[in-house]
Amino acid sequence: MCLHNSGGIMFGAFPRRIVVDRMPERLAVIIGVFNNKGGVGKTTISVNLAAALASPRRRLLLVDLDSQASASLWLGVPRNQLRPSAASVLFEKYPILKAIRHTATPHLDLLPGSLDLANADVALCSMRGREVALDRVLERAKPHYDVIVLDCPPGMSLLAVNAVLACDALLIPVCPEPLASESLDTLFLALQRVRARLVPRSRVIGVVLTAVDPSRKPTRDAIERLRAAVRDRLLNTEIRWTAALSEAPRARKTVFAHAARSASADQFRRLAGEVLQRLQSIRHSATISN
Ligand SMILES: Nc1ncnc2c1ncn2[C@@H]1O[C@H](COP(=O)(O)OP(=O)(O)O)[C@@H](O)[C@H]1O
Ligand SMILES: [Mg+2]
Repeated sequence: MCLHNSGGIMFGAFPRRIVVDRMPERLAVIIGVFNNKGGVGKTTISVNLAAALASPRRRLLLVDLDSQASASLWLGVPRNQLRPSAASVLFEKYPILKAIRHTATPHLDLLPGSLDLANADVALCSMRGREVALDRVLERAKPHYDVIVLDCPPGMSLLAVNAVLACDALLIPVCPEPLASESLDTLFLALQRVRARLVPRSRVIGVVLTAVDPSRKPTRDAIERLRAAVRDRLLNTEIRWTAALSEAPRARKTVFAHAARSASADQFRRLAGEVLQRLQSIRHSATISN
C-alpha cells in the first residue's frame, strides 16, 4: 500500500492563490466528490451533502458531470428536460447561468448532466486547454455561489480530469468492501499522475465511508484496513446503508425532504459540519503558513 505517500502529496494546505483570491469572507469553494469507481456513493453524497450545506447564508450549486444524470433525476429534473446541461455549457458554449436551474431545495441550484456527457472526451480532445474547460466555464458561476459541488463521473476520463482540475477540495466516497483499500490505492496513484502532469490545486479533504452496514464482519474488517491506510483523513461521519436513502432517488427527494428525521438525514448534517470544519482548518493553516 502506498496510500500514505500518495496522501502526503495530495493532502495539505491550499495554495496561496485560493486564500487570497477566493476565501476572504465567503467560503466560495468547489468540492469534487470523486472516485474512479462507480457505485461507491458519489451521487448519494453529492446530492445530500449539497442539500445539507444549502442555507440562506450559503448558496449551493450542484454540477452533475455524469452522463447518467442520476443527480439531476434525483433532484426532480424530468429526463426530457435535462438539456441545456453541463454538456451544452462545455461543448456548445451555452451560457452557464442560463443552464442552471433552481431545485425544490431552497438555495440549492443545479447544472444538470445529460447523455451528451458520454461523448465528453471526443468533444474535449480537440479543444485548446481541453483539461481546463470545466474550470473556465465555472468561473462565470463562481461569483453567484458559496459552494459548488461536482458530482464527478466514474473513471479517469478527460472529463474526470477536468473535474479534478476545477475543484479546490476532493471528497472521496468509499464503500467499505473487501478490496476497498486496494481500490483507493489505485485511485491515489491515478490522482498522483494527474498531479504530476497538470498540477491541480485540489487537495483531498477526506475519505467518507458510504453505504456502511456495520452488522457485517467483512464491512468492519474493510473499515479497519481503510482506517489504517488513510488514518486521520477518514472522516468521522460515516453514511450508513439505509432503506430511506435507497428509496430517496426514486422519490426524487433529498434525504431531508424524504425522511427529515431519519438517521441518514442526521448523518448528512454531521457530514456537512465535518466538511465545513475541514475546509476551514485547511484555510486556517494556509492562512497562517503564508
Ligand atoms: N447509504 C446508502 N444507503 C442506501 N443505498 C445507497 C447508499 N449509498 C448509495 N446507495 C445506493 O447505491 C447505488 C450506488 O450509489 P450512487 O450514489 O449512485 O454511486 P455512484 O454515484 O458512485 O455511482 C445507488 O442505487 C444508491 O441509491
Ligand atoms: Mg453517480
